[in-house]
Amino acid sequence: MNRSFRFAVVRLAVAAAFVAIPLALAPGAVFAAQAPAAQAPAGQTAPAGAPPEHRSFPAPTNLQVLPKDMTGEQVHAIMEQWEGQLGSGCRACHAVDKTNVGPNGRPRLNFADDSKEEKQTARLMYKMTEKINTDYVSMVPNSGQSVTCGTCHRGHLGPEEYIPPKREEHGAPPAAPAAPPAQGR
Ligand code: HEC
Ligand code: HEC
Repeated sequence: MNRSFRFAVVRLAVAAAFVAIPLALAPGAVFAAQAPAAQAPAGQTAPAGAPPEHRSFPAPTNLQVLPKDMTGEQVHAIMEQWEGQLGSGCRACHAVDKTNVGPNGRPRLNFADDSKEEKQTARLMYKMTEKINTDYVSMVPNSGQSVTCGTCHRGHLGPEEYIPPKREEHGAPPAAPAAPPAQGR
C-alpha cells in the first residue's frame, strides 16, 4: 500500500466513524446513562409515522418557558439544538445529582433541578428569543429568517464580542473596484 493510499483509507475510516458513532452510539448512550428505561413514563406516544423510538425520554416535570405539553422527545430535540448552538454540553446548564450514580460510575444529571444559574439564564434567553422573533423579526417585510440561540452565541456559551475587521486606511472606502467618478447629478 503506498503512503497516500493508506492515508486516504485512514481518512475514510475516520469519516465513517464520525458518521457512525453519533448515529449508533452517542445520543442513545449519553441519554441511557442518564435516564434509565425503567423511569420511562407510560402513555408517551410517538407521532404517527415516526420511526420506532428505542430511547426513552421521561415526560418533563418542570417546564416553565417551553410549552408544558411537550413530550420528552420534543424537549430532548430542543436541548440538542441548544447544545449545538451554544457549543456546550448538557452539564453547562444541568446540575449533577451526586446521589444518583450511573452504571459508568459517573453521577447522572438531574434535568428538572433548577440550581444552576445557567439554566435560569437560558430560560430568560428563550423568552427573549421568542419575543425578538414574534414582535420584531417576523415584522420584517418578506421575513423568512428567525433569530436562534446560535445567531448570537455562534457555538459559545458566552457570545464573543464582534470586532469588525480593520479598514486599510482610516476614512477610505474598503478596497473594492473603484467606482466611476460621479458624473453631474
Ligand atoms: C443552555 C442551557 C441548557 C443546555 C445546554 C441544556 N439544557 Fe436542558 N434545559 C434547559 C432549560 C432552561 C430547561 C427548562 C425549560 C423550561 O423551563 O421550560 C431544560 C429542561 C430540560 C429537560 C426537562 C426537565 C424537566 O423534567 O422539566 C430535560 C430532560 C433536559 N433539559 C435535558 C437536556 C439534555 C439531555 C441536554 C444536553 C443534550 C440539555 N438539556 C442541555 C437548559 C439547557
Ligand atoms: C440577541 C442575542 C442572543 C440570543 C438570541 C441568545 N443569547 Fe444567550 N446570551 C447573549 C448575551 C449577550 C449573553 C451574555 C449576557 C451577559 O453575560 O451579560 C448571553 C448569555 C447566555 C447564557 C449565560 C452564559 C454564561 O456564561 O453563563 C446562557 C446559558 C444563554 N445565553 C443561553 C441562550 C439560549 C439557550 C438561547 C436561545 C434560546 C440564547 N441564549 C439566545 C445573547 C443572546
